[in-house]
Amino acid sequence: MYQSPNDDNGYDISDYQDIMDEFGTMDDWEHLLAEVHKRGMRLVMDLVVNHTSDEHAWFVESRKSKDNPYRDYYIWRAPKEDGSEPNNWASSFSGSAWQYDDMTGEYYLHLFSKKQPDLNWENPTVREEVYNMMRWWLDKGIDGFRMDVINFISKHPDLPDGKIKEGKKHASGSAYFRNGPRIHEFLQEMNEKALDDYDVMTVGEMPGVTPDWAQEYTDPKNNELNMVFQFEHVDLDSGSGGKWDLRQLQLTDLKENLSKWQYALQDVGWNSLYMNNHDQPRMVSRFGNDGQYREKSAKMLATLLHMMKGTPYIYQGEEFGMTNVQFEDIHDYRDIETLNMYKEKREEGVPHEEIMQSIYVKGRDNARTPVQWNDREHAGFTTGTPWIRVNPNYREINAEAALNDPQSIFHYYRQLIDIRRREDVVVYGDYELLMADDEEVFAYTRTLNEATLLVICNFYDGAPTFKLPKTLHDHKKHLLITNDEIGDELSEELTLRPYEARVYKLTR
Ligand code: NOJ
Repeated sequence: MYQSPNDDNGYDISDYQDIMDEFGTMDDWEHLLAEVHKRGMRLVMDLVVNHTSDEHAWFVESRKSKDNPYRDYYIWRAPKEDGSEPNNWASSFSGSAWQYDDMTGEYYLHLFSKKQPDLNWENPTVREEVYNMMRWWLDKGIDGFRMDVINFISKHPDLPDGKIKEGKKHASGSAYFRNGPRIHEFLQEMNEKALDDYDVMTVGEMPGVTPDWAQEYTDPKNNELNMVFQFEHVDLDSGSGGKWDLRQLQLTDLKENLSKWQYALQDVGWNSLYMNNHDQPRMVSRFGNDGQYREKSAKMLATLLHMMKGTPYIYQGEEFGMTNVQFEDIHDYRDIETLNMYKEKREEGVPHEEIMQSIYVKGRDNARTPVQWNDREHAGFTTGTPWIRVNPNYREINAEAALNDPQSIFHYYRQLIDIRRREDVVVYGDYELLMADDEEVFAYTRTLNEATLLVICNFYDGAPTFKLPKTLHDHKKHLLITNDEIGDELSEELTLRPYEARVYKLTR
C-alpha cells in the first residue's frame, strides 16, 4: 500500500512515506490504524528494502551520473568487455538480473523486475535512510514489520557468476546473495538503530532459509528477528526445474519437512506457520480438495497448521476457503512473474495449454483475485471494474455466506483460535510426529507437563486407520474440535473418514 507504480503489485515502492493513490491517503491510513487499535488488534507493515522502484527519487537521481551522491545507493557495474552483463545471474521474474542503462552506460542489478533495482546495503547511508524510515512508521504506532526477502540484502561483494543449469541462459546467483556475508550484522544494526526502542514484532521473509539459519535469525540472544517465513514446505511440489515444474506432492515429504522445522525451533527461536500468502496458490486447491470436500479439507488443513508450535498466519479468503482460479486467456492475468514466464516459454515454443497448466497450479494470481465478500456483482469487491477478474465461484464461496453458516470454515477458524488462546499446550507444548511413514495420515502430539494434545488428520479421501500410541492408551480423552460429525470414539484403532480431523486433549 506504499506509493508505487505497481509493476509488481506494490513491491516496487517509489515513496516509502506515502500511500498508493488507489488505496487512499495518509489520513485514511491513520484512521485505519486507530480503528485497528481500538479493537485490540495490531497492525504490521510490510518493509520492502531489498529494492525500491526505479521511480523512487533515489534511483531517479542515481541513474543520472556516475558521480552523484545517490549513485552508490544502488548496485551499478560496468559492462564486460563485450558489452554483456556484469555476471550471469537470473532475475526471479525471468531473464537477466541486470539492466543496461543508456544514461551512464552501466548496468544495475535487479533480482526481481527491472523496475525494482536492488539497494546497495554496503553503503552506510542507505542503511541510515532505511532505519530512519522505519522509525518514522514506528513513531506512528505500528506494531511490527514483515520484511520482504530480507535475507537477500547482503550480496557477496564480488558478485561472482552462478552455475548455469543445462538448457538455461542464466544462473541462479542465490549462493551469493541469500544469507550473505553481512546479513547478521545488518539485522542486528537494524535492531539497535530502529527496532529496539519499540515493542513490536518482526517476521523476515526468507526464501532458501534452512532450519539452521532460522535458529540463528530467531534466537532472541542474537537480536535479529522474531520469526522467519521459510519456503521448504511450499517447494515440495516443484521439480528440479523450479516452481513451474509441477511435481506431485508426497504427504510423507510434507510430514518430514514440517516436522523438521517443528523440532529445529522447539527450544531455540520460533516458527511461523503458513500455507497461503499472496505469492502462493490457494491452500485448499493445493493441499486439500477444492471440489466435493472443499470445506472439510480446508478445515483439516487449518487444524494441522494451527495446532503446531509457532505463530499461525491466515491469508485473506483462506478463512472461508477461497480456491485457485483458471482464466483461459493470459490477458486476464496481472502478475508480472506469471506474464514474464509465459512470454519466455512461448518464445521457446512451449504450447499455450502446457504453460497454462502450470499457471493454474502455481500462479500467484490464484491468491490475488478479489476477496469474495458476497454473491453480488464482482463479489461485492467493487462497484467499478476490478483490477483483476473475480473467481467465478464467488456465488457459492463468499464471506457473507460463511458468516451466516455456523458450520462454515470461518467459524471453525474462530474455534481453532479460541483453543490456542485457552490451551497452553498449543502454545508451548513439545511436538512429536506419529506414524511418520503413513502415506495418508498426518498425526502428531504436543506435550506440556501433564497435558498431551493429539492431532489426527486424514489428508485424503480414503479410510486409513489411525493407531493410538501405546503410551497414550490409558489416558482420559477429551475431544477439543473435529471437522466431522462425532464418529467412533477414539480407541486403540480408529478408521478415519475422508479429510477428517480431530484434536483431543489427553490427561492421565
Ligand atoms: C516477495 C514478495 O512476497 C513478492 O510478492 C514480491 O514479488 C517479491 N518479494 C519482490 O518484492
